[in-house]
Amino acid sequence: MLNIPHPFPYQGSKRGIAQYILLHFPSSVRCLIEPFCGSGAVSIAAGAHRLTKQFWLNDLNQPLMELWTEILERPNELAGGYEKLWNEQHPNKKEFFFQIRDEFNATPQPHHLLYLLARIVKGSVRYSAEGKFNQSADNRRWGMRPKTMRQQILGVSTLLAGKTTLSAVDFRMVVVKADKDDLVYMDPPYQGISFTRDHRYYNGLAYDEFVDTLQIMNEKDVSYIISYDGQTGGKTHGKLLPHRLSLKHLNIHAGRSSQATLLGYNHETVESLYLSPALVERLNGEERGLEKKPQIQLEFACV
Ligand SMILES: C[S@@+](CC[C@H](N)C(=O)[O-])C[C@H]1O[C@@H](n2cnc3c(N)ncnc32)[C@H](O)[C@@H]1O
Repeated sequence: MLNIPHPFPYQGSKRGIAQYILLHFPSSVRCLIEPFCGSGAVSIAAGAHRLTKQFWLNDLNQPLMELWTEILERPNELAGGYEKLWNEQHPNKKEFFFQIRDEFNATPQPHHLLYLLARIVKGSVRYSAEGKFNQSADNRRWGMRPKTMRQQILGVSTLLAGKTTLSAVDFRMVVVKADKDDLVYMDPPYQGISFTRDHRYYNGLAYDEFVDTLQIMNEKDVSYIISYDGQTGGKTHGKLLPHRLSLKHLNIHAGRSSQATLLGYNHETVESLYLSPALVERLNGEERGLEKKPQIQLEFACV
């Protein structure tokens, strides 16, 4: 059983179901592209299982991608910066959180963001209409201990550094570069919150634009997987993807998910996965070739 590192909690993280998503990877992937990467749980898991040699992580959230740069390129310095903040938060961690949040909003720095992510309520990143980070701290917790944080950061850096492209642009600028040998994994923002234009910065994703982009990807025979339309307690959140895209729809029974917890529910969440026609064809070809899939068992390190 592999121990998969993960450096920060993040709302909507797929670390809990990454093992099911990896089962739909073709046996040979040139580059795994995650245009909505967030905490990059699927890429990290794929890296741990050596399912691809190259990665491309992208997220519209620029400070988040600056944090990713530090994780991959200067993990020790980042871990040191986090440790300093973590130690300084005693004895008034409540006030200290607001101080760091103000500093981050004035001059965003990756170790500040890491500290905020480690302390905020349910890893749920929130920005004001002015683009200011405005989520509050979970004052029952201190955030991940520095020693554990260092292990997570170094673990991720070992898996992904030197083979990962990072960018902070709209997902469409990334997916147009995808080739037939690549695999694109897309986990767009939760529709219930995000398919609106209320939030200026990180949720500006319109349903029609998303569907149009998928159509273009189909025309180019791009292999992709989408996490979309979660259901909790039989309720579907958001609009379904249209039939005309000819996607294969699978349900993952994910247990009691972070989304359900976030919404205050206690029932099982069913996560939808959609596979593109080109990916289904690629996987069918592998079955015809009687290629055996590796058995995948994952275990994530505890925060
Ligand atoms: C559900 S989260 C992804 C979570 C990720 N799968 C993980 O494991 O942590 C969606 C992400 O999409 C990003 N995002 C929103 N709109 C975007 C856009 N138009 N292009 C690229 N990224 C976008 C958000 O900043 C957010 O981090």
